[in-house]
Amino acid sequence: MLFPDFRARRLREKENFRRMIRETKLSVDDFIYPLFAVEGKGVKSPIESMPGQFHLSCDMLVKTVKQAHELGIPAVMLFGLPDKKDPLGTGAYAKDGIVQKAVKAVKNAVPDIAVITDVCLCQYTDHGHCGMVNKGKIDNDASLDLLAKTALSHAKAGADMVAPSDMMDGRVGEIRQTLDEEGFSGTPIMSYAVKYASAFYGPFRQAAESAPQFGDRKTYQMDPANSLEAIREATMDIEEGADIIMVKPALPYLDIIFRLREEIDLPMAAYNVSGEFAIAKAGGLMGWVDAHKIIMETLLSIKRAGADMILTYAAIEAAKAL
Ligand code: PBG
Repeated sequence: MLFPDFRARRLREKENFRRMIRETKLSVDDFIYPLFAVEGKGVKSPIESMPGQFHLSCDMLVKTVKQAHELGIPAVMLFGLPDKKDPLGTGAYAKDGIVQKAVKAVKNAVPDIAVITDVCLCQYTDHGHCGMVNKGKIDNDASLDLLAKTALSHAKAGADMVAPSDMMDGRVGEIRQTLDEEGFSGTPIMSYAVKYASAFYGPFRQAAESAPQFGDRKTYQMDPANSLEAIREATMDIEEGADIIMVKPALPYLDIIFRLREEIDLPMAAYNVSGEFAIAKAGGLMGWVDAHKIIMETLLSIKRAGADMILTYAAIEAAKAL
């Protein structure tokens, strides 16, 4: 049917019609809220490049998590900033490490929210890389044991799900095996399976003080030019036992989300990363765009592309708007 028999605008005329034919809907169920835990008490210090986000000591973290829970957000993702870093990233798997303490505090105060932990070494190593460094190179196989130890320590602290973000080959299998052997066969793994070496992580690295001290992450994170490789990465992690596959960043990789949605039958998450959030907020502060509208449209586009859940710093803001 062509114009004038067909008029596309007929069903756009009224808001009720627009609501009735809307294909994609955002829901608070879609959101996972990432948070940064620090040592201390009463600490709530703003992260400059991520307006509205804070470094939170456990007591303050619990307050924010309560608010997220009251808004109906089903899960948070916890990152830790330790006081001390060392070459082996021991803070990552310490029993009283910052994330382990944060998990306990949150599960204690807000047991009904799901706590997911980021499993990585970069915030805890003095060199800032996500794996062990050996003669100036990132040693894949030497990192696996420490990553599995880290995931296990999170599960022991009470984490409901673990999310390895390091991009070492084989880490999902190693983590799955360790969790199973230690009595955590029921703890799911959300794998940062398709994680690109991206400039969009800039504000996060400032926030988490996790920028690599030499070189970059291109030897382990994916080349932004590749999409077939995304299928291989996702497939590998699924075979190793991942329960949820993540694509990261989200907005510049909507084609990857769309493509993977056709290829895989597991739930899929997308990480609306710090740079995506910072750009929207900065544009808003300049008065050049409406940051809130940009954020809501971005989240919708990520869902429309095929993501089942979205990690976003705008979770609270978006949940309030829905
Ligand atoms: C740790 C990690 C990073 C992010 C999540 N986990 C940083 C990185 O890989 O450099 C980025 C999150 C964001 O930018 O919001 N490996």
